[in-house]
Amino acid sequence: MNEIVIKQNIVPNVWLMGIYSPQVAKKAKPGQFVILRVTETGERIPLTIADFDSDKGIVFIIFQVVGKTTSILSTLNIGDSIADFVGPLGMPYEQDSNDKSYLFIAGGLGIPAIYSKVKMLHSQGKDIEIIVGGRSKENIFFEEELRKYCSSLYISTNDGSYGQKGLVTDILTQLLENGKRYDEIFAVGPVLMMKAVVDITKKYGIKTLVSLNPIMVDGTGMCGGCRVKIGNEIKFACVDGPIFNGFEVDFDGLMKRNSYYQDLENLSYKEHKCKIGLGE
Ligand SMILES: Cc1cc2nc3c(=O)[nH]c(=O)nc-3n(C[C@H](O)[C@H](O)[C@H](O)COP(=O)(O)OP(=O)(O)OC[C@H]3O[C@@H](n4cnc5c(N)ncnc54)[C@H](O)[C@@H]3O)c2cc1C
Ligand code: FES
Repeated sequence: MNEIVIKQNIVPNVWLMGIYSPQVAKKAKPGQFVILRVTETGERIPLTIADFDSDKGIVFIIFQVVGKTTSILSTLNIGDSIADFVGPLGMPYEQDSNDKSYLFIAGGLGIPAIYSKVKMLHSQGKDIEIIVGGRSKENIFFEEELRKYCSSLYISTNDGSYGQKGLVTDILTQLLENGKRYDEIFAVGPVLMMKAVVDITKKYGIKTLVSLNPIMVDGTGMCGGCRVKIGNEIKFACVDGPIFNGFEVDFDGLMKRNSYYQDLENLSYKEHKCKIGLGE
């Protein structure tokens, strides 16, 4: 169980894996995630269910190597197994059947979190546009896959090496200033990016959903690690989210909480790299 049946290096430092997990694949819905432990003594990390094949029992994850656990995961190969692969967790993406036009905005590693939603809405004949942004050309992936499911795909890179130079929010502003309107905008990526998107869409009064990425431990609402302030309420992103109304999210509080463990995470990754002989 939890055997890796597909492994691809899509762009530097980013891996796609297909995990054989029929129970998760059978129940998975767009918007949900898994919590996995690579080894029995390892830490638990959440990863979005990027896609799933219920017939073959395969769940697809796409992850960037950013620290110890993702680094260890990237060294596993086809035929290896992951110790724990728990899911599907979180609330599935809820669509409003009256909505017809959508703009998805994926920054950084946001693509896994939009892919299955885009596919689902496209199969229902909805009009979909997508903005994808990354630091550089080498960080942009899944371009061809996404083009199949949308009427327009806009790309931005910070350094201008591909697509429009600048940020996803520059393209968003241009589209809205040129009169484009959408029934729903869905943004996922770094917290600062989602905050900036919401600052713009609020002015136009366009419903905006975001998928949050707080620190998660158990993924069942027990530890409180993933708490976020939504409007006047405290919610747990693992059971109440991770998708929320962007207009209600306390992004500043989320950024603060996400940086709590940064020193410890950096230290743990540094020690791991020294141990495997990669230096610091
Ligand atoms: C609902 C959800 C879905 C996610 N989906 C994806 C995905 O599809 N692909 C992807 O590459 N990343 C995804 N992430 C982020 C991913 O969980 C972190 O990159 C991963 O935990 C890093 O672990 P590490 O040990 O390699 O790095 P570390 O050095 O431990 O951490 C690096 C950074 O990752 C984040 N992080 C670390 N531990 C956790 C944790 N337990 N929970 C949440 N964030 C953490 C922190 O921002 C931290 O600064 C998702 C996060 C959430 C909450
Ligand atoms: S991860 Fe523990 S309450 Fe959400």
